[in-house]
Amino acid sequence: MITVIGSANMDLVVGTENFPDQGETVLGNVFDTVPGGKGANQAIAAARLGSETHMAACVGNDMFGTSILNNLEQNKVGVTGVRVVEGASGIANILLSEGDNRIIVVPGANSSLMPSYIDEIEELIKRSKLVMLQLEIPIPTVIYALAKCQALNIPVMLNPAPASGFELDMMPSIKYLTPNETECEQIFGMDMVSALEKYPNRLIITLGSDGARFFDGEKHVIVESFKTNVVDTTGAGDTFNGALAHGIVTGMELEQAVRFANAAASLSVEKFGAQGGMPSFEEVEARLEERR
Ligand code: ATP
Ligand code: RIB
Repeated sequence: MITVIGSANMDLVVGTENFPDQGETVLGNVFDTVPGGKGANQAIAAARLGSETHMAACVGNDMFGTSILNNLEQNKVGVTGVRVVEGASGIANILLSEGDNRIIVVPGANSSLMPSYIDEIEELIKRSKLVMLQLEIPIPTVIYALAKCQALNIPVMLNPAPASGFELDMMPSIKYLTPNETECEQIFGMDMVSALEKYPNRLIITLGSDGARFFDGEKHVIVESFKTNVVDTTGAGDTFNGALAHGIVTGMELEQAVRFANAAASLSVEKFGAQGGMPSFEEVEARLEERR
């Protein structure tokens, strides 16, 4: 079983031909409201692949909170650890253009996920094969959760996004760290190769359309992505993390799990919305098979 302790947002997505310049107004061509948040996205990615997945999060007592909760349930994510708090749910303002995105997150209810809540979900943590964390909830809560998992001997996968919340002394209590290239440089302040060699089989760097890489203690392993038609890359990293977690808890070797995660993420970018293209296990298997 996987427990994700993290954010749940409603994504307000606007598509436009070109990003507006400072002070400029442009016309958009699409607007949609879809569930997101790095925590919820990673939980749903793992659940769609067949892992028993539970979420610990806070949503607001507004319309978005109800939709976020319903969406988690519809995707078979356990919600006994999701608390409804007074006030607005977290939202992400997502601008899609030029094959990329720009995101502003307003944490709302996610800010209510306090360290004391980690004690309340201790039973979920104890039952987990893996706990997943990101950095869209209060950092003291992340630090407390890391200490709790270490004390209980439960491995943690931490996706350091946004990277500004990462602290180097979190590293000893993290089994797998999954930054993208930019986050890796921000966190370690050294070149990617040196960072990888410092953390064999623990640091997995995602490389966008180039796939992902890690160092196995002897050699650098670069796992290529699956080329595809990109519609929306939002949530590619989250799909990668959810799929990597599924691979690891089901006993795949790290290289096999990274390949599986690349395949899952390549399917996710083919559809609109962070969760829109997150695949089932059978869809990932089919992609792996067709490109074998
Ligand atoms: P995001 O913030 O957009 O969710 P990220 O910056 O955290 O993503 P990336 O390294 O961009 O992470 O992408 C994560 C994974 O998604 C990659 O390792 C790769 O497997 C897959 N991926 C991303 N972009 C593409 C693409 N254009 N084509 C195929 N796969 C992709
Ligand atoms: O990683 C993508 C997610 O980041 C979006 O769903 C948005 O909610 C932000 O948290």
